[in-house]
Amino acid sequence: MRTLDARLAETLQGLRQAGTYKTLRSLSAPMGPVTRLHAAGEVLVFCSNNYLGLANDPEIVEAARQGLAAYGAGTSSVRFICGTFDCHLALEEKTAEFLGTEAALSYSSCWNANEGLIPALAGHDDAIISDEANHASIIDAGRLSQADRTVFIHSDMDDLAQKLADVHGAALKLVVSDGVFSMEGDVARLPEMQVLCRQHDAVLVIDDSHGTGVLGPRGRGSHEHLRVPASGPNGIDILTGTYGKALGGGNGGFVAGSRDLIDYLVQRSRPHLFSNALAPPTACAALKALEILEREPERVTQLHSNVTRMRQGLREIGYEVTDSPTGIIPIMIGDTAKALALSEGLLEMGVFVVGFGFPVVPEGKARLRVQMSAAHTDAHIDRALDAFARLKANLPD
Ligand SMILES: Cc1ncc(COP(=O)(O)O)c(C=O)c1O
Repeated sequence: MRTLDARLAETLQGLRQAGTYKTLRSLSAPMGPVTRLHAAGEVLVFCSNNYLGLANDPEIVEAARQGLAAYGAGTSSVRFICGTFDCHLALEEKTAEFLGTEAALSYSSCWNANEGLIPALAGHDDAIISDEANHASIIDAGRLSQADRTVFIHSDMDDLAQKLADVHGAALKLVVSDGVFSMEGDVARLPEMQVLCRQHDAVLVIDDSHGTGVLGPRGRGSHEHLRVPASGPNGIDILTGTYGKALGGGNGGFVAGSRDLIDYLVQRSRPHLFSNALAPPTACAALKALEILEREPERVTQLHSNVTRMRQGLREIGYEVTDSPTGIIPIMIGDTAKALALSEGLLEMGVFVVGFGFPVVPEGKARLRVQMSAAHTDAHIDRALDAFARLKANLPD
């Protein structure tokens, strides 16, 4: 125990000295374009995944309330024993219909979905080929499998083709990528990846956690944006995603694909077999989020126009921002301590934007990450831009 205590104390002290120690900020009001932080009071939120402004939507809160009344607080069981409620089946059917796949299976998070999918599919003699910028849950899911693992250079299709050729002897090849990269805010090159996967008889798995509800005219995700079908011979093979971002901001994740895939996961996916399902109120809230999104595609249009306004405004102030259509706008800073200090500076001006540094992003690539919501008004965006303009004076050239 003394060894552990000493190790913990030394690590924490090191983080404090390096200026990279993270403090959890607690909120005392619901998530929205404006919230209240214990330390800072009322702030504008530009760091949440509340892309469609549904996190505290009255209809969603009511759906969760009704779910609680109808089914109680939890499942008290894993799915295959007695933990499957009709709200889970309704949510899965709706998810598949929304995305354009035959079937879907819900999990308690997308982290869980990735870990439930990848090791269940890829074992000895198989190969997983993963974009180097993929989310940690994809990396850890790969580590849990027995398959050979290879990483390709971020969005580099020549490197992906080379890596596919290198593993040509593998029994099964899985190419796995974020649809929208959570730290870069760019979109995966789905059309090229899809063609390469067909050429090499590989399976394409896309985690569209930051694309679902955000991209495409109807918010179906990166596949809709890039006009790649979600299924079929010219489509993606498997989608994973979350209900914890655009789709209501609660929690839960899913795998969507063929009916046989979902049937197989019900038999073999370890988090599905050994961990409780989504709590019914959360499943009901996610189902309502999908219904609202289908009914009100104008939320997606509003998000797209807010993204454009923010990107243009930042550029006019002199920040370098990319042209990506996603709700994630990274501003590169470099040094982790500096990024964290700048985020403190913004907070003092009432604008909540988080700085990300190592180990979330590679050493030397720290950044501020601005995230947009359909719920931001022009006035919110202009106030944030004003704070960014004042901050600019403190930035390195
Ligand atoms: C690409 C990606 N996958 C998975 C997750 C995890 O989602 P969840 O909160 O549902 O576990 C995230 C969350 O940041 C993500 O960005």
